[in-house]
Amino acid sequence: MAAAGARVFGLDFSPGMLAKARAKPGAGAVRFVQHDLATGLPFASGSMDRVTCCLVLEHVADLASAFAETSRICRAGGFVLVSDLHPAMRLQGTQAQFTDPATGRKTRPAGARHQLSDYVLAATRTGLHIDHMSEHVVDDELAARSPRAQKYLGWPLLLLMRLRRS
Ligand SMILES: C[S@@+](CC[C@H](N)C(=O)[O-])C[C@H]1O[C@@H](n2cnc3c(N)ncnc32)[C@H](O)[C@@H]1O
Repeated sequence: MAAAGARVFGLDFSPGMLAKARAKPGAGAVRFVQHDLATGLPFASGSMDRVTCCLVLEHVADLASAFAETSRICRAGGFVLVSDLHPAMRLQGTQAQFTDPATGRKTRPAGARHQLSDYVLAATRTGLHIDHMSEHVVDDELAARSPRAQKYLGWPLLLLMRLRRS
C-alpha cells in the first residue's frame, strides 16, 4: 500500500515485533507506532481510508472496544479488514506459539476465547457492515503445500472479515 502511494501506519505494542517489521523490504515508507490496542488507537476519527488488523484480535480480550476503535478511525465509505486465527482452533487446543531462540522454550502469548458470534456482534454494533466473511479450511491442496498445516486437515484455520464503514 505504501509503494502504491498510501500513507501507511503500522501499529503494535511489542518493540521486538516492530523491529522485525522495520527490517522488512519497503518498511522505510511506513510509520511505525508502538501502542497497546487495548487503550484505543492514537489516530483521529475518520482519518483512515483502510484499516487492517491481522492476527491480533485473538490476543485482545475486549473485542467490542477493538472493533469500536477500528470503526472510529475509518472514514465513512472506507473499510476494515480483519484476519484472525479461527475460534475453532482454540477449541481444538491450538494457539499462537513460538520457540524462544535463547532458551529453546515454547512460549504461548496470552489469548482470548472468542466465538464467531463475538466477532460478528462486536463489528456490526459499531457501524460496520459485513461485506465479506469467510472461514478458510485446511484442504488437501494446502496440506500438500505446507507440512505444518497437515495436522489441521479439515479444520477452519483462518477467519477473514471485510467490513464497510457506513
Ligand atoms: C501473530 S502476530 C501478527 C503480527 C502482524 N500483525 C502480522 O500479521 O504479521 C500478533 C501481533 O499482535 C500484537 N498484539 C497483541 N496484542 C496487542 C495489543 N493489545 N496491542 C497491540 N498489538 C498487540 C503482538 O505484539 C504481535 O505482534
